[in-house]
Amino acid sequence: MKDVIRIEGGRKLNGTVRVSGAKNATVALIPASILASGPVTIVGVPNISDVKSLSTILQELKVDVIQKGEDHLVIDPTHMENITLDHPAVTKLRASYYFMGALLGKYKKVKIRMSGGCYLGPRPIDLHLKGFEALGATVKYEQGYYTLEAKELVGTKIFLDFASVGATINILMAAVFAKGRTTIENAAKEPEIIDVVTLLNKMGAKIRGAGTNVITIDGVTELSGCFHEIIPDRIEAGTFIIIAAAAAEHMVVENIIPQHLEALLSKLQEMDVDMDVQVDRVTIRGGRQLKAIDVKTLPYPGLATDLQAPLTTLMTQAYGESTVTETIYPQRFKHCDELGKMGARIDVNMPSAVIHGPTKLYGVDVTATDLRCGASLVIAGLIGDGITTIDEVYHIDRGYDNLDGKLKNLGANIWRDQIEE
Ligand code: EPU
Repeated sequence: MKDVIRIEGGRKLNGTVRVSGAKNATVALIPASILASGPVTIVGVPNISDVKSLSTILQELKVDVIQKGEDHLVIDPTHMENITLDHPAVTKLRASYYFMGALLGKYKKVKIRMSGGCYLGPRPIDLHLKGFEALGATVKYEQGYYTLEAKELVGTKIFLDFASVGATINILMAAVFAKGRTTIENAAKEPEIIDVVTLLNKMGAKIRGAGTNVITIDGVTELSGCFHEIIPDRIEAGTFIIIAAAAAEHMVVENIIPQHLEALLSKLQEMDVDMDVQVDRVTIRGGRQLKAIDVKTLPYPGLATDLQAPLTTLMTQAYGESTVTETIYPQRFKHCDELGKMGARIDVNMPSAVIHGPTKLYGVDVTATDLRCGASLVIAGLIGDGITTIDEVYHIDRGYDNLDGKLKNLGANIWRDQIEE
């Protein structure tokens, strides 16, 4: 049996929703914690299945993981063992690749099965591997397993061909114990990178420049445990702001950092969404006629690719022709086929799509092909006529903390049923 989410569309949402800790920071902070020699306490951990998979991987490594209260996680690597990582949890999420950098950094050796995650078109890890090699590691790939090994890791200058989030964080983790200074040029600047560096520096690392495109890491010999609170999830925040723009009468999205959402907020202003931005919250009122816009996804601080699918649903309600150009994952358009089944008129010509609006959407059976596609279908279900049934909701559960529960609190008619696999 498996869950499906059903939504009866048309209810206006009202109330306040609180954003959880950032998924894409959490999935890096957890592997980073094993670099310490004592317990690390992380607060604000979202209740998502990716965290459960990472906890399973930690337990495989004989790391003690204690869940305290709703959102505290204590990670104690004191008795850790560096075993081959091939538990099914490893291939469930792409972020398990962060154990490459963390274990290589700590033990100078790691053997791990290739990671999984959302299929968004090809997602190579060549930049991660080039970074490890530059630090002195050898990389072997045999029968689905990567083996990385180094006699010693030595700091060097690494230029990333693309400002990859994953490669930046992975190289950082491998370099914290390397001899001398490592410089990452054309580093990614996403807020999640700053969060990981904040954790590592609290543990005793010497890293400067996070949030800019040049990060320097001066190697240290030991890291200690610490306490860390995760930043709010800017993608969950953005998703709820878009939900409000599409379906709310009056809604407040709280626990946000508006500076992390500037590209989205300015695009929503251009659409004429009625909103007030305060220091830690956005208030959105519905009822206005929305205008079509053109957007292009870009590395931070540009518009996040992870908000492209939710925004596409909103565009189906705007007057005129909107266009989306996806520069991060040129094939990330599967949600458009699903939205098409609900009545959206979208012409996809990768890496772009033209959305003709406004169109009425109708509740039908659709499939969450990936996490953010799932979010875009939930939004469509909230505004569609009749009942939308979303299948493969495990994608949504991987990355959104209690999305349906939070929507229910806002007045949505959303529930889960179980169906045969
Ligand atoms: N790329 C390479 N080689 C590499 C690494 C990346 O060619 O070695 C390319 C990718 O194929 C892609 C681009 O560079 O075209 C950007 O990839 P990046 O490495 O920045 O992405 P990522 O680290 O794999 C993270 C998030 C994604 C988010 C992207 C972009 C995590 C676990 N995942 O992925 O989040 O879309 O950054 O911001 O942090 C999501 O949350 O739904 C999600 C997919």
